[in-house]
Amino acid sequence: MTAARKTPAACLIGWPAAHSRSPLIHHYWLRQLGIEGGYNIEAVPPEEFAEFVLHLSTHGFVGANVTIPHKERALALTRPDQRARAVGAANTLWYEGDELRSTNTDIEGFISNLDACAPGWDAASDALVLGAGGASRAVVFGLIERGVARVHLANRTVERARALADQFGAQVHPVSWDVLGELLPRADLLVNTTSLGMHGQPPLEVDVGRLPQQAVVADLVYVPLQTPLLATAQARGLKTADGLGMLLHQAVRGFELWFGQRPEVTPELRALVEADLTKA
Ligand code: ATR
Repeated sequence: MTAARKTPAACLIGWPAAHSRSPLIHHYWLRQLGIEGGYNIEAVPPEEFAEFVLHLSTHGFVGANVTIPHKERALALTRPDQRARAVGAANTLWYEGDELRSTNTDIEGFISNLDACAPGWDAASDALVLGAGGASRAVVFGLIERGVARVHLANRTVERARALADQFGAQVHPVSWDVLGELLPRADLLVNTTSLGMHGQPPLEVDVGRLPQQAVVADLVYVPLQTPLLATAQARGLKTADGLGMLLHQAVRGFELWFGQRPEVTPELRALVEADLTKA
């Protein structure tokens, strides 16, 4: 339990409290903007989560990030915005007056990173999204909100892709994994939201050579930083957006809500987090 503090502080609530880059990111911004504030990691087991969240301010916090396994529970215990409801999980909590609100910042993390890495990407009319889990929901919501006409959704378990299409409507077209190759030639944007290509996971077998020349490729995986998918896309001269960029951009909104200033994702911040990831 954390005592009430004079300077505003936020925290990351998880169980177990896994090694997270969030403190590094928020401490960098606090320093850079000259704000006196804090960001702690709080290991809270599931049976204590409700008590902790419902008394977040008495624990000394102006807000929080929430990670595994608490994200769905956080939604139920707070008043979620449209984004958190659409994704079905909250990762950022803040107070609006006395009321504890929640949002999901993965959507803007994904979209802002694309804007930064591949300006003009939103001329895309056809997107191909791989995976239909929680991360995919954030990506699909962001793409639809930004006006992408068709989102083809390929997943190993096609039923999950269908369920997502049912939720998000007619712009989302569920497809089975084995027709992936046929969709590549008309995909303006390819996004990997699966764990394939991550260290210790099987590789992602996608023939990037079949994508159109103007295609943009995004990968949510950030360990390794440069996935084989991104490396082959870059070798072909395609624009890419990586998972670390999304991680950094998704942290912006929380900081702004808690500390009142909108921070920037700078090359210096990226280098700091990259160094931390590569030493792990
Ligand atoms: P997250 O919240 O990060 O999206 P998730 O909900 O566990 O995580 O989803 C993981 C995604 O990676 C799913 O789309 C999963 O496919 P299934 O729905 O068929 O499980 C996909 N995935 C994981 N391992 C995979 C593999 N070996 N081959 C193909 N897809 C895989």
